[in-house]
Amino acid sequence: MKPTSLKTKIFLDSGNPNETREIIKLLGFLDGQTTNPTLISKNPNARSRLEKGERFTKEEIFKFYKEIVAEISGLIPNGSVSVEVYADKNTNHQEMLNQGREMFSWIPNAHIKYPTTYEGLTAAEQAVKEGMRINMTLCFSQEQAAAVYAATIPYSSSESAQRTSREVNNEAMRQLNNQTTKDSSRQARTINNGMYNRLGLKNVFVSPFIGRLDDRGENGMDLIKNIIRMYKSSDHHVEVLTASVRNLDHFLYAIKLESDIITAPFKILKEWAEKGMPMPDESFKYNASNLKPILYQKIDLNKPWREYNIKHDLTNIGIDKFSSDWNSLLLNK
Ligand code: E4P
Repeated sequence: MKPTSLKTKIFLDSGNPNETREIIKLLGFLDGQTTNPTLISKNPNARSRLEKGERFTKEEIFKFYKEIVAEISGLIPNGSVSVEVYADKNTNHQEMLNQGREMFSWIPNAHIKYPTTYEGLTAAEQAVKEGMRINMTLCFSQEQAAAVYAATIPYSSSESAQRTSREVNNEAMRQLNNQTTKDSSRQARTINNGMYNRLGLKNVFVSPFIGRLDDRGENGMDLIKNIIRMYKSSDHHVEVLTASVRNLDHFLYAIKLESDIITAPFKILKEWAEKGMPMPDESFKYNASNLKPILYQKIDLNKPWREYNIKHDLTNIGIDKFSSDWNSLLLNK
């Protein structure tokens, strides 16, 4: 049973539907699942195929990915399933957008993962306008999270240049409060993408990768804390999805920080379930004494997204790793 005080949504980070089944049994609930090219390359059926010396054609690998997410989607029809586009350093936004459109049609509850790069954000900006749900991945800095926010404000750029998101949010709330007809309600919902959709989740997630920052000696949990603080004075249309979780302390601290969502590998969710799904209490202290702090930056969220510094070396390294893991499955690389 889900702890009653748990507000954070819990996702499984896995490309294996058998793990989905097992976690649902262990926890009694699951709010969503995230996949990525590396996790798909670790799927047992992909492994056994590779062990037999067989590889996939491009058509086969997308079919394989589609079958996996369709199976997961069927297991958590009221949750969200993140599906990641293929992107290497040469993939442009149009290619990402086309893939995202196709993947979004695979299942009714997809969030499409785009990398937090110039090309990825360009694709995401358009995807959101088309009504797609998205999850911006490989986020390693507060400025990248600010760019995600600014690129996905659900209004046309000319409108948003003239009106701050706060003003628009207030207008949407006014319309909701004053609604007299179904039409005005629908209009308000269109204006305010901060409203929850039928999945109980918002249309836009940003995924800061904490474990990979820790791996190189920086306190990844500081990034979660900083982004949540920065988003406090926003229209709240972006949900913070804590990703790259390595241990139960990451998981519990993310709950304490009130991350909207956490995605965690099977092993960590199992450990949490076996310990009786503990919640962090007042005495919970996160120990990061061996890690370098990441300081909070005061960032204005109301700038055009291209004005933020969105470069991060770990994003580039992450793209290289995802694309090489994906390509390792292919016949003709
Ligand atoms: C989930 O969306 C991420 O892709 C995943 O958490 C990355 O985890 P890793 O850093 O352990 O590969």
